[in-house]
Amino acid sequence: DTSVDAAIDAFRDGQPVLVHDFADREGEVDLVYPATAVTPADVARMRTDAGGLICVALSHEAAAAFDLPFLVEELDHPAADGGDLGYDSRSSFSLPVNHRDTYTGITDDDRARTITELGHAAADPDGTDFAAEFRAPGHVHVLRAAPSLAHRTGHTELGVALAAAADREPAAVVCEMLDAETGGARSVADARAYADRHDLAFVEGAALVDELA
Ligand code: 5RP
Ligand code: ZN
Ligand code: CA
Ligand code: ZN
Repeated sequence: DTSVDAAIDAFRDGQPVLVHDFADREGEVDLVYPATAVTPADVARMRTDAGGLICVALSHEAAAAFDLPFLVEELDHPAADGGDLGYDSRSSFSLPVNHRDTYTGITDDDRARTITELGHAAADPDGTDFAAEFRAPGHVHVLRAAPSLAHRTGHTELGVALAAAADREPAAVVCEMLDAETGGARSVADARAYADRHDLAFVEGAALVDELA
């Protein structure tokens, strides 16, 4: 599938890719980057052009090496009951973190620092003391991927699968593309038009699952 090849090539080059999951899942298009490629200007693009939540998906192995839990399992509060989640059997949220060298953690510079350092950490889990480098709570949401696309097919796993196919660090930034006017999810047609306008790759989750699962 040429759209999958183009997405993998883009990722290998550190370029963002637009990924639509499935019409019968979230039905959302995320702007996805390999973590170590993210600059402050990319964070600005995510918050202005995408507008969703900026998260870093870590592979199952990297998250396990850092002992990063699923947040729902850590919260001792009845609000953590996710049994009514409409689109999947569970959320992939782990801890929200800041790199310890950031100040407030929210600025474009600070979030880019946290994101790239998460990428470097994921590239070298054995050489990383996670708690020495990152503080929680923070302003970048870490997502913990399932072991493979056979287990779960969220943007979390689609991003991690793209990183693996591109021989990159197992860390991908994902941010939902919202419609600036309505606040709803950006339609697939609009997201494709955005991709064309900015010369970015667009790929369907189904195509990624077909080729990478
Ligand atoms: C965090 C989310 C997004 O949907 C993101 O794409 C990761 O979640 P998932 O793997 O469930 O698609 O909820 O902003
Ligand atoms: Zn979501
Ligand atoms: Ca480092
Ligand atoms: Zn998603």
